[in-house]
Amino acid sequence: TISPLGDETSEQLLGMIGDAVRACRKCYLCEGRTNAVPGFGNAGARIMLIGEAPGKNEDLQGKPFVGAAGNYLTELLGYAGLTREEVFIANILKCRPPSNRNPQPDEIFECTPYLRDQVRAIMPEYIVTMGNFATKFILRTDRGITGLRGNLQKTGQFSVLPVFHPAAAIYDRTKREVLEADFVYLGRLLGNVPWEGD
Ligand code: URA
Repeated sequence: TISPLGDETSEQLLGMIGDAVRACRKCYLCEGRTNAVPGFGNAGARIMLIGEAPGKNEDLQGKPFVGAAGNYLTELLGYAGLTREEVFIANILKCRPPSNRNPQPDEIFECTPYLRDQVRAIMPEYIVTMGNFATKFILRTDRGITGLRGNLQKTGQFSVLPVFHPAAAIYDRTKREVLEADFVYLGRLLGNVPWEGD
């Protein structure tokens, strides 16, 4: 998608990808967008979090996870001893689907090269996939999130932790407890939270 010369910093690469995303017209979703939402955060992040697609607030602001699910995500990061400033947050789709419907296969096909480029630019240690769409794409699986969540997996050089999507858990107490426990686990893996008995 982008043609780096090879000597760019992660930050420069992310800038190039962001410019390409904002100019993108590869699928129909560009027609309805206010802003494309490339992603946001630290180019040197150890942790990258991947969601599904921008919603209304994200489309208006051009930033990922800034609505209700985003506020909850900020709280979840706290369970792992993390702040937004030290992670990078992106989505499978960079433009908002109409009425927040599910991403379609052709949209995922056209859009995910941007995400691949972002992962390569950042080379995080951990990728947290939030919900079915991010998990299926990153782990190349058809298995659902309910069976995969909380199980750390190695994919290439990355440790991948699938978790419920914050928007799916926000009004579901049981899912919320599971999701919060998964972020505590992430914090332990990172050395931010003591293991039980430590
Ligand atoms: N839900 C997502 O998956 N991504 C966002 O950016 C916001 C809500």
